Amino acid sequence: MPPQDFLTQLDQLAQAGQAAFNQAADAAAIEAARVEFLGAKSGRLKAVQKGLGAVPAADKPAAGKRFNEVKVLLESALAAGQERLAAGSTAQSNEPFDPTLPGGRQYEKSRYPIELGHLHPLTQTIEELKDIMGRLGFTVADGPEVEDEWHNFEALNIPKSHPARDPLENFYLATAGAGHAGTMLLRSQTSTVQIRVMEKQKPPVRIISLGRVYRPDDADATHYPMFHQIEGLLIDRNVTMADLKSVLRLFAASFLGHDVHIRFRPSFFPFTEPSVEVDMAWETVGGKTRYVEMGGAGMVDPNVLSAVGYDPEEVTGFAFGLGVERICARRHGVADIREFYRNDLRFLSQF
Ligand code: FA5
Repeated sequence: MPPQDFLTQLDQLAQAGQAAFNQAADAAAIEAARVEFLGAKSGRLKAVQKGLGAVPAADKPAAGKRFNEVKVLLESALAAGQERLAAGSTAQSNEPFDPTLPGGRQYEKSRYPIELGHLHPLTQTIEELKDIMGRLGFTVADGPEVEDEWHNFEALNIPKSHPARDPLENFYLATAGAGHAGTMLLRSQTSTVQIRVMEKQKPPVRIISLGRVYRPDDADATHYPMFHQIEGLLIDRNVTMADLKSVLRLFAASFLGHDVHIRFRPSFFPFTEPSVEVDMAWETVGGKTRYVEMGGAGMVDPNVLSAVGYDPEEVTGFAFGLGVERICARRHGVADIREFYRNDLRFLSQF
């Protein structure tokens, strides 16, 4: 046989076989095509192979090489066809139902994507504040929201006659409690946790506490009757006001950003001496900066240290209590903290 005829036969076979494997619509069709083209006994490739004997000896190496190439080509076209059919069948019918797959993915391209929820901005803030203070070495302590008068007032150097204890300023409960005092109330500040920690733990102390506090305040842009505070307390040898300032500045720079200026004003709290009020720059209108109070702070009063059995000659410390709603609002440019409690999804979904 002239070598040209042999090569032409091979090329035609390659084309026909590839087309058959590519177009096979199901497993039976591809199996039939396999037998037709690559069948070991009477396949068409086998038939063409017989012609190789008739090719002149000088052309045999080239003809044999081409024959092998076509064989490999057909075999890989068969494999590709089989793979295509296997994949298709799983997608259509054999795919096991997996209830653990996230819903959003299946509906990704539909008009009604399933939206995943996320944490409330105040919760996000609380988590981030824990992180920042954790990096400064503060661990988290907890206290109850229903408190006795000892922890909310007495131990904090707030005597019975103090106006802060006025029933109009607090949510007293009608129930009589056990413990230090009969009267219980919803705690009005997280400073209660300072006492609870110091009662249990010897110095050094380095804690924060975050949680809800309650006051019968009228709601406005910066007040809500239930809000959150972050309390900090550090007791050790040689702690000074300078330590307090640097911790609060670091804290504010980490959460609010370096461009948010904070300032300290002399103030008074019965449980700290000296005391300061901490303000943060809120907005600048017409070149004038308006400040909003972020919290109170100071050096822990020696009376408080003595009341929990610490020696004020040996250790000193600082404490601070900041309003979480206001810090969160300042960070995100929210003008009114009541937004955090309206539960309007158009507002909440922005965080
Ligand atoms: C206190 O509560 C002190 N316990 C803070 C403190 C802690 C001083 C440790 C010294 C040492 P004050 O009443 O100022 O302080 O409240 C602290 C902060 O809570 C305020 O600056 C403000 O940011 C926030 N805050 C107070 N009342 C409300 C309210 N009704 N709604 C939202 N935030 C409030």
